[in-house]
Amino acid sequence: MINFTVDGKNISVPKGTMLLEAIRGAGISIPSLCAHESVSRSGACRLCVVEIKKGNRTRIVTSCLYAAEDGLIVDTKSERVQNVRRLVMQLLLARCPDSDVLQKMATEMGVEAQARFIADTDKGKCILCRSCVRVCEEIVGVSAIGLFSRGSDKTVGTPFMEKSDVCIGCGACVYVCPTGHIVMTSTEDKRKIWGRTFKMQACEKCGKYFAPVDQLKYISKKTGTPFKELAICTNCR
Ligand code: SF4
Ligand code: FES
Repeated sequence: MINFTVDGKNISVPKGTMLLEAIRGAGISIPSLCAHESVSRSGACRLCVVEIKKGNRTRIVTSCLYAAEDGLIVDTKSERVQNVRRLVMQLLLARCPDSDVLQKMATEMGVEAQARFIADTDKGKCILCRSCVRVCEEIVGVSAIGLFSRGSDKTVGTPFMEKSDVCIGCGACVYVCPTGHIVMTSTEDKRKIWGRTFKMQACEKCGKYFAPVDQLKYISKKTGTPFKELAICTNCR
């Protein structure tokens, strides 16, 4: 076990536990956007910063990427932490002024949009955290989306923003996106995402549409499970 302190509280966690989980496990709240349990971490949003002290040295680290260490002294609310977090939130608000998730978090943190950071009006709600890209690559295994262009033009999408041949319409990217940037719409037998329309499979038992046909075909090919067996919704299995 690793023993250390957070905001003066003694904490004990298994080796390898990240500070973010350790801190939350101790009942101390900490803001975060990009750390999702389903995907590897990017440290992109920087909202989860904390101040750590090792010996005489203090520094700011992203708690979702920093593993707990014996004897560490962690401060989640120091002036330095609050200043960094406020600045990060102001920058995020400038990038995605229309994000209701960010607006709510900012209000909770007592942060307001700053006129000195010119608001982007064309970036939607994307904070470029790559969670959607990672889930598509690491969990689904199709790599249908990525981050393209550079600098302030960087954006998430399919290559050349064209309809992707490899996307299976699973919606995993929507599930992990912390800001609701990715739009997926569903009608009974159709699902639209990333510019493509996917035909939905009706459950062979109850008749309810439950998953894109392409997704089931992909799972069938990957696992060797006959398509017919997959064409039954989880409620009827
Ligand atoms: S679309 Fe969502 S998950 Fe993907 S990079 Fe943007 S904010 Fe992150
Ligand atoms: S949650 Fe740690 S950097 Fe985003």
